[in-house]
Amino acid sequence: MSQKVTISLIKADVGSLCGHHVVHPRQIEMARKKLEEAKKNGLIIDYYVFNCGDDLELLMTHTKGEGSPDIHGLAWSTFKEVTEKVSKPLKLYAAGQDLLSDTFSGNVKGMGPGVAEMEIRERPSEPIIVFAADKTEPGAWNYPLYKIFASPDNTAGLVIDPSMHEGFIFRVMDVIEGKVVDLACPEELYSLIALLGTTGRYVVERILRKVDKEIAAVATTTRLSLIAGKYVGKDDPALIVRAQHGFPAVGEILAPFAYPHLVAGWMRGSHYGPLMPVSLKHAKCTFFDGPPRVVALGFQLANGELIGLNGSDPADLFDDPAFDVARTIAMQLADYMRRMGEFMPARLGPEELEYTTLPKILEKLKDRFRHV
Ligand code: 13P
Ligand code: 13P
Ligand code: MG
Ligand code: MG
Repeated sequence: MSQKVTISLIKADVGSLCGHHVVHPRQIEMARKKLEEAKKNGLIIDYYVFNCGDDLELLMTHTKGEGSPDIHGLAWSTFKEVTEKVSKPLKLYAAGQDLLSDTFSGNVKGMGPGVAEMEIRERPSEPIIVFAADKTEPGAWNYPLYKIFASPDNTAGLVIDPSMHEGFIFRVMDVIEGKVVDLACPEELYSLIALLGTTGRYVVERILRKVDKEIAAVATTTRLSLIAGKYVGKDDPALIVRAQHGFPAVGEILAPFAYPHLVAGWMRGSHYGPLMPVSLKHAKCTFFDGPPRVVALGFQLANGELIGLNGSDPADLFDDPAFDVARTIAMQLADYMRRMGEFMPARLGPEELEYTTLPKILEKLKDRFRHV
């Protein structure tokens, strides 16, 4: 049997160029240098550093398992060093934005960065897709993950592939209570949707194949505002999905993104906007700090090595005219939503805005209300 390998995707916004637009090339360079050292020292097998908008994403493979203090420490020190040596000297915007603590306690969970990790035994061929989004939150994956792993209309394999026919188990996290529940599909599909429809509270933490509990997908679940108690940027999420041979095909995994569904985030993390699938080149937000964007990067794992098209450079899966129509629809929707200005449902509801600066505005008006 092949050796176990862990895929760790740890991400944080540690400052960006021109407001919340894009990570600076020198931040990427510095992070690469750190991870290259760790690779030479044998701590990690391989890595790929990239960004989605203003979020710096560290994809790493290693043999230390999930939640390893060594790997989390490496990510933490990388984010700290990029902040101190690049973000601050260049006066990049919101330097160190997502680093909510000064002291590292062995695990970056709850300290600001987003974490998605899976320990697997590599199959004879192991295609993976890494998704990262900017200007949205973990609940943005609810709709596509439901489509990919529970909807027979999206995923033909659920119907016609015997290795997937039994379905999948969704581990759903209640981010307010900090609890998880496992729901098996198809039999608990309606209960699953009952939870996942509430995107700001219930999010998918991981998905397992029902027959053998093999992990199929894992997502970041951080809600920064719930940690910090105030608005500190959105919790721009990431997601790792295994593809093919008992898991959904690459095309089944990408298909839901051809429909740019509305997600929470966008300007000041306070609006609903369409999630636009883009290439790495276009993973940077502009119009009203958006629209929210998502990239999909394809790799093959080979003994923990991240095989891409050119070294570790992945297949840039949304860099494809097949997603042009989705992008056009996303911009039409973006324009449509913006015409509503600050009126709900274009703007998020009051419970979602609790951690923003809106309560301060309302506070000022409090004493001016008269009884009628
Ligand atoms: P291949 O026959 O090329 O392996 O494709 C199977 C498949 O899963 C297509 O989605
Ligand atoms: P980020 O969460 O991507 O930092 O964006 C914050 C924001 O306020 C955008 O308008
Ligand atoms: Mg930012
Ligand atoms: Mg961001």
